[in-house]
Amino acid sequence: MEIEQAVARHYAHGSLEETILDALAAAGKDIKHLKPKDLSPVDEFHVGGRQATTAFAEQFGLRPGMRLLDIGCGLGGAARYFAHEHGCQVSGIDLSAEYVNVANALAARVGLEERVSCEPGSALALPFEPGGFDAAYMLHVGMNIEDKARLFAEVRRVLKPAGLFGIYDVMRLAAGDLSYPVPWASGPESSFVADAASYRRLLAAAGFEVLQERDRRDFALDVFAQMRARGAGAGPAPLGLHIVMGANAGQKVKNMIADISAGLIAPTELICRVP
Ligand SMILES: C[S@@+](CC[C@H](N)C(=O)[O-])C[C@H]1O[C@@H](n2cnc3c(N)ncnc32)[C@H](O)[C@@H]1O
Repeated sequence: MEIEQAVARHYAHGSLEETILDALAAAGKDIKHLKPKDLSPVDEFHVGGRQATTAFAEQFGLRPGMRLLDIGCGLGGAARYFAHEHGCQVSGIDLSAEYVNVANALAARVGLEERVSCEPGSALALPFEPGGFDAAYMLHVGMNIEDKARLFAEVRRVLKPAGLFGIYDVMRLAAGDLSYPVPWASGPESSFVADAASYRRLLAAAGFEVLQERDRRDFALDVFAQMRARGAGAGPAPLGLHIVMGANAGQKVKNMIADISAGLIAPTELICRVP
């Protein structure tokens, strides 16, 4: 509970919807006629944003009408992508009531409110019946969750037989202190970065079969190089994750990039299945 409170405090903003709409308008978007992709610079809170989500989604065998669960859905960018591009029905859950409210408001603005529905709650006590989802995913959420055994047991409970579970988290590659703040935590009290071997062990103990692991460090380093090239000589773009991350966004990103570049951590994908 204390961890969840610290996590919620870390992500608290206060006027996020208004800030995002102002930034969209400043970027030249007509906020009365938004499309899901207009939001992608600001609503995909993980390394590589939409590019990472697209590559991740390819591994799911998505079909229209599939029921997906987005664990730690944040502002719902990935949920809207799966709904809009693949015709899936997505339920999202997140600790932050503010994020959930913004996620639902943005879904309504782009006409996806029938296919995307987010609610506040904990990944450690999912408010869903057993066996209801075809697939579940979490994007950059496990770094905030210490009790991954319980998390994976909960995900396993709500999946159908043969259901898929995809993870895209920042994972530990080597021992060493991380620099804080990072995008997911203000300090070590709410940061639980684990190595892929621990994920695999805990997933197997929860009854999952791990199908695939993909290290995304090189992809991340490319993304950071592209960011540097775009930013050279220019001020910050009006629309970007910095408006979600708050005043010390630059320091959070800088610390994360330094620790990925140093080989301490890396974004990593795991795809597993209920046997
Ligand atoms: C870095 S953000 C990623 C958001 C989203 N998955 C995305 O990629 O845009 C991490 C999110 O996980 C949520 N989160 C962290 N711990 C959680 C928990 N125990 N239960 C539900 N959500 C949690 C946070 O509130 C935050 O919205």
